[in-house]
Amino acid sequence: MTTTPATAVPVPAPPSRRRDLRDAPFLVAANGGRPERLPVWFMRQAGRSLPEYRELRADTAMLQACDTPSMIAEITMQPVRRHGVDAAILFSDIVVPLHAAGMGVEIVRGTGPVVEKPVRTMADVERMPQLLPTALRPVAEAIGMLLDELGETPLIGFAGAPFTLASYLVEGGPSRNHERTKAMMRAQPEVWHRLMSALADITITFLRVQVDAGVDAIQLFDSWAGALSEADYRRYALPYSARVLGAFEDAGIPRIHFGVGTGELLGAMAEAGADVVGVDWRVPLDEAGRRVERAVGGPRALQGNLDPAVLFADRDSIEAEVRRIAAEGRAAGGGHVFNLGHGVLPSTDPDVLSWLVELVHELPG
Ligand code: CP3
Repeated sequence: MTTTPATAVPVPAPPSRRRDLRDAPFLVAANGGRPERLPVWFMRQAGRSLPEYRELRADTAMLQACDTPSMIAEITMQPVRRHGVDAAILFSDIVVPLHAAGMGVEIVRGTGPVVEKPVRTMADVERMPQLLPTALRPVAEAIGMLLDELGETPLIGFAGAPFTLASYLVEGGPSRNHERTKAMMRAQPEVWHRLMSALADITITFLRVQVDAGVDAIQLFDSWAGALSEADYRRYALPYSARVLGAFEDAGIPRIHFGVGTGELLGAMAEAGADVVGVDWRVPLDEAGRRVERAVGGPRALQGNLDPAVLFADRDSIEAEVRRIAAEGRAAGGGHVFNLGHGVLPSTDPDVLSWLVELVHELPG
């Protein structure tokens, strides 16, 4: 460790410490290639399915943990050590940038993000604070620690897409039907577009801090985009996700774009600017590949798409699903990163996840 003397002169950001991992199986596949073995990681791998995570988090609130570099780094490492996955995902949350900007948001166990003052009027949007990169120093610091610890394993940074963040802000918390959000789009379009624009800026800042600190890929989680028709997605959400993804077009790292229930949106989500399209379990990867290719005129890498609930079945059934998905991923032809179709369910047996990694690693990329 070097120490920097205190100085009154503004210090420019240090050059990115991104490692050269271009041969890492995850990055080969994400860039559209065929690595020797099929790479695998799990959305929500860094969390409640692990006893070591629950122990570490026992006395620390979620957002407090996300603000503490040593905890971020340790929780990010836990699934890498235990399962031998091909990529780490930064331990954080999609609401961390809102919290860092000073918006009143908490993560309530068993519920999810809850917003103190929902955003519903133009005055509410105008009151939204800006996010300063300095408010995310713990995130940048944790990434620095992780680059030292991870060795050859790539690190994925992430953010929530503007639509998914807007849903939490407008509804005030998790929502099944997104009714206030959808009402705002139509009834107050100028408020909606101002809100989405502000959220795109916040999202770009959150990702910029991670990219500058050296992450090897980014994933934009638009978890709830599947609630929209394609026409509404294109009109009310896509332009803002495209602005976010476009900001990192020249960053030299793959951009993964993921949503749940987005079978009808796969083409539009690829058009928004994805190098890798995340697919849930509802659409087979070969069909997903066709939808993406029709939209953007060429293949894109795909990520997915084992139903997380299948991990509660017997091992023969799981293996049959894994082999089917690997074959469909190969048939899609644009690079395949094996993953679940959505996050690891908290009650998943961690030993099943470790076994699954070994099984996937026996398959060609
Ligand atoms: O993938 C990883 O393991 C990295 C960490 C990560 C978390 N949240 C940690 C977390 C990531 C990538 C997220 C993204 C996230 N957060 C999304 C998009 C992904 C998805 O699942 O669709 C969304 C929608 C959120 C919002 C959110 N935060 C929800 C719905 C919840 C669960 C609430 C609950 O308790 O049921 C959270 C909390 C959260 N984020 C936890 C973790 C490990 C659980 C906190 C705890 O341990 O109490």
